[in-house]
Amino acid sequence: MKKTHYCKVDYSHPLGNCLFKGASILRWGGTVAFPTETVYGLGANALNPQAVEKIFQAKGRPADNPLIVHIAWEEELDKLAIHIPPVAYLLMETFWPGPLTLVLPRHPGVPDLVTAGLDTVGIRMPAHPVALTLLEKARVPVAAPSANLSGKPSPTNGLDVLRDLVGKVDLVMDGGPSKVGVESTVLDLTVDPPMILRPGGITQEQLVHILGQVQLDPALQEGAVGQPKSPGMKYTHYAPKAQVTVIQGMETSDLSFLNDLVIQGRRKGQRVGLLLTSETAQAYRGNYAKPHYLEVLGSRRKPEEIANHLFRALRNCDRNRLDLVYAEGVSEEGLGMAIMNRLTKAAGYRILQV
Ligand code: TXA
Ligand code: MG
Repeated sequence: MKKTHYCKVDYSHPLGNCLFKGASILRWGGTVAFPTETVYGLGANALNPQAVEKIFQAKGRPADNPLIVHIAWEEELDKLAIHIPPVAYLLMETFWPGPLTLVLPRHPGVPDLVTAGLDTVGIRMPAHPVALTLLEKARVPVAAPSANLSGKPSPTNGLDVLRDLVGKVDLVMDGGPSKVGVESTVLDLTVDPPMILRPGGITQEQLVHILGQVQLDPALQEGAVGQPKSPGMKYTHYAPKAQVTVIQGMETSDLSFLNDLVIQGRRKGQRVGLLLTSETAQAYRGNYAKPHYLEVLGSRRKPEEIANHLFRALRNCDRNRLDLVYAEGVSEEGLGMAIMNRLTKAAGYRILQV
């Protein structure tokens, strides 16, 4: 066990102790969890393989999963990537700092461990003021995956980071709740047209607006067809201990099928949870069988609300010791694509169409 320090960022003195502590730990090769606008990251000096190794150990992350390198200045790109296409600068101009990770041909100076041996590297400039100031003060590029134990939902607040990583990292910086709530969009710029490898905080529509054309990784399209698949090992990310089912096509006018599912679960002695939009929750409550737990994700009309609550909701399933969870599916438009990607993964692609 390591001693894990914890500090809250004092926004009235944003350059206070917590930031200096974080920056100096990063410089001497330690591990620091810090807030970003998407989710919390677990950072280490990207150019120091011993430091990066500590990230994999703390998370229990498989070594074949590459890390995103975070930077504060565009000039740092030249140390990390080569043959940067002009379109990269257009995207940086538009979306950085922000939730877009660009996959570029890797500079030979980037350690193998960071890229998992790939010849590309993922890079992003986060928009959170604490993350940016931390990177500026540390004066090194920072490799940072989400600050959760491998397989768990990404943490969107300092306490969820502590719950996963206490005793495993040097410092947890608490900067309050994350704004976006889902991770960055990962966009591969080594192919033409650019390819979305992971939907996230920047939407496909936003990218098409700038690029004209983008393609979706075929693996994503497969997952999005809506047919239940057997949950393979690689699909168990974000999964609570409960069995999660995503329900598509819910109509607030008749929720009797949901009522039946809750009753069936209760009869078997299982603890049942519902993750619903506010519209559905309102129609369900008071009219149908009571679940053991109900979490309102946000309004159907405000996918940013749903994204913001999603990972906390998935973590709450474990905290409430649920056995069965029914989660309402949303439209795949805009941020909905990222939301449905995470939800269907959490469900191991168990999807029910009504
Ligand atoms: O919003 C985010 O991206 C957060 C915050 C902390 O910045 N970070 C994050 O990192 O979500 P992580 O490690 O949990 O997810 C990184 C994703 C993984 O799916 C990884 O496979 C992919 O990005 N990735 C990283 N480098 C890549 C590369 N060179 N080629 C393809 N995929 C890459
Ligand atoms: Mg992650």
